[in-house]
Amino acid sequence: MSLINDRMALRRQFRQARRALSQNQQAQAAQQICQQVQSMPELAQAKRIAAYLANDGEVSLAPTLAACWQRDIATSLPVLHPVTKTHLLMLDYHLHTSMTRNRFNIAEPQLACQAIRLLSEHTLIFMPLVGFDEQGNRLGMGGGFYDRTLANLKNYAQQPLLFGVAHDCQQAESLPIQPWDVPLDGVITPTQIIRTKRNH
Ligand SMILES: Nc1ncnc2c1ncn2[C@@H]1O[C@H](COP(=O)(O)OP(=O)(O)OP(=O)(O)O)[C@@H](O)[C@H]1O
Ligand SMILES: [Mg+2]
Repeated sequence: MSLINDRMALRRQFRQARRALSQNQQAQAAQQICQQVQSMPELAQAKRIAAYLANDGEVSLAPTLAACWQRDIATSLPVLHPVTKTHLLMLDYHLHTSMTRNRFNIAEPQLACQAIRLLSEHTLIFMPLVGFDEQGNRLGMGGGFYDRTLANLKNYAQQPLLFGVAHDCQQAESLPIQPWDVPLDGVITPTQIIRTKRNH
């Protein structure tokens, strides 16, 4: 099987598995992820983190976002870049942010220049993923949005840590990786925090 077909088959398998989780399992996973994130020493130092709003069976970060607000940690959400169409912008997000739906029907903050945050302002970026392995390789939905947006991160003086967030059923033994796939510093699941050595 070619690498591309391989990645397509894995995406289908993991997306199906996470969509098959019950509402109870999803709610429990979201709480467990919140606990895991709260236990991270990096969070104690964090001024701002980036999260996502769950879609397609992804683990919800809603309890994690609420916990951050309680701790006065600012939060951002990704927004599809209005010009390049293939990159993400990080926008400030809080309880009263005006939201809209993007072309994938995912809720995102309404675009406002003053709400745009630099990648370097984030201590941690929590990213959704379709599949992961214990090396910290990430298989996304296939759009390349996170890969493009984070491609130049290695040149930044101030680099956010990149953590994938997933259900345990999204773990692969090993993933077929492409040169543009941005490696993660770790992956958080309801039952484990995997930390990896990222090569810069
Ligand atoms: N840094 C980059 N520059 C240009 N194109 C890129 C870059 N990164 C990824 N792409 C393109 O994006 C496409 C999708 O990439 P990939 O299959 O890795 O998506 P993904 O990681 O699953 O998606 P996402 O990052 O949106 O979750 C690839 O065909 C690739 O050509
Ligand atoms: Mg990729």
